[in-house]
Amino acid sequence: MRKVSIKGTGSCVPERVVPNSFFERIVDTSDEWITTRTGIKERRMVFPGQALTDLAVPAAQRAMEMAGVSSLEIDLIVVGTSTPDMVTPSAACILQDRLGARNAFAFDIGAACPGFLYSLAVAQKFIQDGSHEYALVVGGEIISNRIDYTDRSTCVLFGDGAGAVILGARNGDGEGEVLSTHLHSDGSLWNLLNVPGGGSRNPPSHEMVDRGLHYIKMQGNEVFKYAVRAMVESALEALEANKVTSEDIDWFIPHQANLRIMETVAKRLDIPLHKVISTVHKYGNTSAASIPTALDEAIRSGKIRRGDLILVGSFGAGFTWGASLFRY
Ligand code: ACO
Repeated sequence: MRKVSIKGTGSCVPERVVPNSFFERIVDTSDEWITTRTGIKERRMVFPGQALTDLAVPAAQRAMEMAGVSSLEIDLIVVGTSTPDMVTPSAACILQDRLGARNAFAFDIGAACPGFLYSLAVAQKFIQDGSHEYALVVGGEIISNRIDYTDRSTCVLFGDGAGAVILGARNGDGEGEVLSTHLHSDGSLWNLLNVPGGGSRNPPSHEMVDRGLHYIKMQGNEVFKYAVRAMVESALEALEANKVTSEDIDWFIPHQANLRIMETVAKRLDIPLHKVISTVHKYGNTSAASIPTALDEAIRSGKIRRGDLILVGSFGAGFTWGASLFRY
């Protein structure tokens, strides 16, 4: 089996910055509450009319440019998202069209926040087995229009964004390697975090909108507990599978849901906070976009360098969770 490496990364967040003070004006909350409970100071949100691929296209183009790979060389596109441009076709097919990636086949993966990790793992297999050469893997979300702006316990948490990586066979030229990805789900917990409307159970209707079923529903406390345990367990699984310890890790990129979750997980893994990459203060929880955008920014700022050992971990609705270990 071929070894797989990350050839390039890219990301894109909307221009519109929404600070905590925005929510102080519409619900009973404060900058102080949001900052101390979540670490979030501001987030990015799209303007009305903007869709996922409006962010995914620039993110993908930046990743292709860094990788030196053209759109015609890409033969696989996988997009991890819960918020595609439309119900059907997939965001991946719309992205394929907009990039002119005519030689690819394309599909979405719905795994909520770990959608990027799930997509990475699937794409890796196609490169490993030699059937495909270059995969574009995107994690992206437009979550700002799934938020109930009267529910203070969820509306302050989320933001929009998209991140992308190009995967290809490792050429041994100073490149790293995607070592392993460990994925899990527990469908018995679906009720703790969901968007009940818009699917076949509660199809789009005036009644669905009147009842607010198209908005995110979350039992934050319960999610918090499971998230910490799940992220720690899958991270340990990734370390063990590769016979390394947390001391060997150069950087840990946890899902950027909440600074308290990120710090608790890092502490339980014995990873010092200076090795934890965090963007949650400026982007909030961008779901499937959180890991690839944080990865791209850390690479472009020079924090992450070729040869560094990176641990990433995520969890989200489903429940779904997982961890991946790679050398950049
Ligand atoms: N401002 C002020 N007060 C608030 C706010 C707010 N924005 N939100 C909730 N509160 C209040 C509650 O109403 C409650 O008040 P009460 O005691 O009078 O009832 C009090 O604060 C405490 O509420 P908790 O829910 O216990 O607050 P907690 O400390 O747990 O923090 C939070 C809430 C931040 C949501 C936390 O539970 C959390 O981060 N959970 C995980 C969320 C998450 O990461 N979800 C992942 C989503 S992944 C995906 O797939 C999209």
